[in-house]
Amino acid sequence: MSFTPPPFWGAIKGFLADDEAAALAAAATRASALGPVLEIGSYCGKSTICLALAMGDSDSLLFALDHHRGSEEHQPGEFFHDPDLYDDGVAQMDSFREFRLNLERAGVSDRVVPIVTTSQLAARHWSTPLGMVFIDGGHSLDAALTDYRCWAGHLLRGGTLAIHDVYPDAASGGQAPYAVYRLALESGLFRETQRVNSLALLERL
Ligand SMILES: C[S@@+](CC[C@H](N)C(=O)[O-])C[C@H]1O[C@@H](n2cnc3c(N)ncnc32)[C@H](O)[C@@H]1O
Repeated sequence: MSFTPPPFWGAIKGFLADDEAAALAAAATRASALGPVLEIGSYCGKSTICLALAMGDSDSLLFALDHHRGSEEHQPGEFFHDPDLYDDGVAQMDSFREFRLNLERAGVSDRVVPIVTTSQLAARHWSTPLGMVFIDGGHSLDAALTDYRCWAGHLLRGGTLAIHDVYPDAASGGQAPYAVYRLALESGLFRETQRVNSLALLERL
């Protein structure tokens, strides 16, 4: 990997492959010079830590948006359910505690602003231009389209739209992130700069 992961990187629960983390980090280093970075879908902080470390000591900020109640696939009985992240007291998923612990351990809490709510609600009065948007939230078509429509318009020219879990072949994975990827390219507002594994990096023209 071209960025230096913390020693406990392999133990952080999450869904970001090492080659994707390296590409995401390189993009964040460049984009954070332009403006703040926003990620949708932090889970236990794997991508958050990758982005925040890549931003280095720059003055930039990372907004880490997640309601921390899990996506469809994290709910009890679903394929990616993790019982360790289930709060019996409220009978809901809760990845926020684990997220905070991991950020503290990585020493990046001073440059990350957690936003613990839905993507749609957080976007309602948002007006800050962004250097980078990383979409890795809900993977239903409705959720992915909402994320794109709520946040891509805030990117500065030259900024980066990163989309995770882009699978052109339906046999390899769900099609919602790929639909968003195609929508962005077909809008004429973006050009693809890199594809690494399931991560797509697009530049706002
Ligand atoms: C695939 S996980 C993110 C993985 C993470 N980026 C990583 O590197 O491990 C998706 C996350 O999106 C969050 N999420 C799903 N729908 C959301 C929504 N509408 N608003 C905010 N967060 C959402 C879930 O709570 C979950 O933690």
